[in-house]
Amino acid sequence: MISQQLSRFPRLNLMPSATPLDKLERLSAWLERDLYIKRDDLTPLALGGNKLRKLEYLAADALAQGADTLITAGAIQSNHVRQTAALAARLGLACFALLENPTGTEHPDYLSNGNRLLLDLFEARVELVENLDNAQASLEALAARLRTGGKKPYIVPIGGSSPVGTLGYVRAGLELAEQIDASGVEFCAVMLASGSAGTQAGLALALSERLPQLPVIGVTVSRDEDQQRPKVQALAEATANLLGVPLPDAFKVHLWDEYYGPRYGEPNAGGLAAIKLLAAQEGILLDPVYTGKAMAGLLDGVGRQRLNDGPILFLHTGGAPALFAYTDAWSA
Ligand SMILES: Cc1ncc(COP(=O)(O)O)c(C=O)c1O
Repeated sequence: MISQQLSRFPRLNLMPSATPLDKLERLSAWLERDLYIKRDDLTPLALGGNKLRKLEYLAADALAQGADTLITAGAIQSNHVRQTAALAARLGLACFALLENPTGTEHPDYLSNGNRLLLDLFEARVELVENLDNAQASLEALAARLRTGGKKPYIVPIGGSSPVGTLGYVRAGLELAEQIDASGVEFCAVMLASGSAGTQAGLALALSERLPQLPVIGVTVSRDEDQQRPKVQALAEATANLLGVPLPDAFKVHLWDEYYGPRYGEPNAGGLAAIKLLAAQEGILLDPVYTGKAMAGLLDGVGRQRLNDGPILFLHTGGAPALFAYTDAWSA
């Protein structure tokens, strides 16, 4: 069983309680469809988000290896880098980050507000790079440089999406299965943003064992389905392998890829409308890069009857700090 195997892995207990599973009453009435939300935007570190779950396992691994420095990479407005830098501060570790500018914008809020502002507060050391096309090689080169300087770096992969990091979303899937069982609600699907793929891979792995009828649908935020599918599949297989369990027969990668345009990191009209809708109907903040686009997919899917009947569960993975970096999106 996945839960037994998972308990063998070291984890920093930074999330002592489950994140809430709530019904969105006003939005459900507006949509004429019951919609529930799992609030992983409310994880308890530095404005929340999905990465803390992965970092519970990654940072435990780093400490076990005697690391004194976490190094990672992402966009200038990466939520993952923000949460990694915050955790490094909390653990008394140094943090170095390689940052790219995926859209090439020169807007001052993108360059220095939002998540980027917070990196300075956490005293992360930042290097801007041309691109992260070979992120692992760039991180290894940085690690080698730091080792020469006497440091003991630990590489946290982009998005925390290694098999070790993905264990965090296996655990989240088990947590969610318990909440769903307790709720008595028969959901037709779980929907979420799918980027570096660890969130979807881990959640779908756990839920395919615990609730095999329930599809986990990833709305892509950075690539088409034919590129995203092998990433999610390979990560789920590698994570199952790490756990020493077979991939459950019910495991399946479901992806919708029509909602991320024009490209990663660039807001679109559907995503912005979804952000406004959730803010106005529920007082909940989505973000322009991940959760706004995923919610736009959900809303469009309801309108086009792409989903089976029944209540829908949306996993809110965080990201609202980036709202302050994309102030220009609203005037376009
Ligand atoms: C707010 C938010 N949602 C979703 C994701 C996507 O999660 P994953 O990279 O595990 O696919 C990220 C990743 O950076 C994120 O910051």
